[in-house]
Amino acid sequence: MKPQHLDGSSHLLVTGGAGFIGVNFVRRLIENPHGPTVTVLDALTYAGNRESLADLENSPRLHFVHADIRDGETVESLLRASNIRTIVHFAAESHVDRSILGPDAFIDTNIVGTHSLLKAARSFWIGDEPGPHRFHHVSTDEVYGSLEPADPAFSESTPYAPNSPYAASKAASDHLVRAYHHTYGLDTTISNCSNNYGPFQFPEKLIPLVMMNMLAGKALPIYGDGSNVRDWLYVEDHCRGIEAILKGGEPGRVYNIGGLNERKNIDLVRILCAVVDERFAAEPALATAHPNCPAAHGKPCESLITFVKDRPGHDRRYAINADRIERELGFRPVETFETGLAKTVDWYLAHEEWCRRIQDGRYREWVDRQYSDRLAAR
Ligand code: NAD
Ligand code: DAU
Repeated sequence: MKPQHLDGSSHLLVTGGAGFIGVNFVRRLIENPHGPTVTVLDALTYAGNRESLADLENSPRLHFVHADIRDGETVESLLRASNIRTIVHFAAESHVDRSILGPDAFIDTNIVGTHSLLKAARSFWIGDEPGPHRFHHVSTDEVYGSLEPADPAFSESTPYAPNSPYAASKAASDHLVRAYHHTYGLDTTISNCSNNYGPFQFPEKLIPLVMMNMLAGKALPIYGDGSNVRDWLYVEDHCRGIEAILKGGEPGRVYNIGGLNERKNIDLVRILCAVVDERFAAEPALATAHPNCPAAHGKPCESLITFVKDRPGHDRRYAINADRIERELGFRPVETFETGLAKTVDWYLAHEEWCRRIQDGRYREWVDRQYSDRLAAR
């Protein structure tokens, strides 16, 4: 029988559980009354937001530890203290633009941090107290490089060719996880997934940035000519995919998770604008809440689209071949692009306070500076 990692008697350590995908994953587990106990370990960098879990923090099944994954002693003592046998590792520096401006933090957290976690897990799980365990590493399709328009989608056997410092750091971490399985027998799985979108995403990434700029009546920056393609995966589908791997995945195996939704950036932004225009037309109160949005005055949000200088080394296209996870684990995304985007727009419209507080913080300053630099360099 396969070991259980998600039932009521399990206890998971979720690193990066205060970040975008981690929050969605933890929320699913805690909102399930039959779900496991979860200890979130998060350093609360600019991208970590404990507020996103605040309504669940009185659950006896949720614990929060403010710590860095590079602090191996703390990690190992947490594992031992609660006999934790499952790690789901989300913690990372995750934004490509930031990795271009300053790669060091990406090396420190994504490579050194992942190695530190692996060492702690090995010491407890394989060293003195052997037993069933799982280290699930959350990675990205960016490790495979960039596709031309007619290339087949990335499969698990596509050779690695990372192009940005972020992608290279994730590739290095994947190799370390693989090596710990091969050499030390650590029970590991890796998922490489495409671009996530949905609730709680920070507004440095394309969809929440465009959404918040639209509502504020600010320009919507499109890098280059907007023809770069991404494969959009609704975040809850990603979480379901990870759950499927925890339940049925084979140790040492890699699974790609994709949204089956390839879109050019410019097309995606136009669709997003149209959805927001529709919401404003149907709900007059939105115009009062967001008076600077063009839709508040019957103008299309598309009018804010602004082409800016391209990202250096910008990967042209990502697309995932998700046959393996469907064939072996029966997983397929539930959301279509239309349903996922509608849920996302509605979430951001309904969570004005969350958006306002995020925008009041350092993210907004960083994003504004990024954008004005790109516009000036056009
Ligand atoms: P995010 O940037 O929103 O969150 C990262 C979280 O990690 C934050 O809570 C941050 O505080 C925490 N963290 C950073 N450094 C840490 C450290 N040294 N110690 C402990 N915690 C630390 O990221 P995300 O978008 O939620 O991505 C989660 C994971 O999924 C990452 O590993 C990323 O590479 C991967 N991924 C993301 C996407 C995507 O579209 N967002 C797609 C594919 C893969
Ligand atoms: O593919 C998975 C990856 O997706 C994850 O590993 C990364 O953690 C995640 O950040 C994401 O990387 P991208 O670089 O694809 O995401 P981003 O939202 O930054 O950009 C999406 C596309 O939109 C990309 O082609 C660049 C473009 N873009 C982005 C921003 C922020 C713009 O045109 N304008 C913008 O302002």
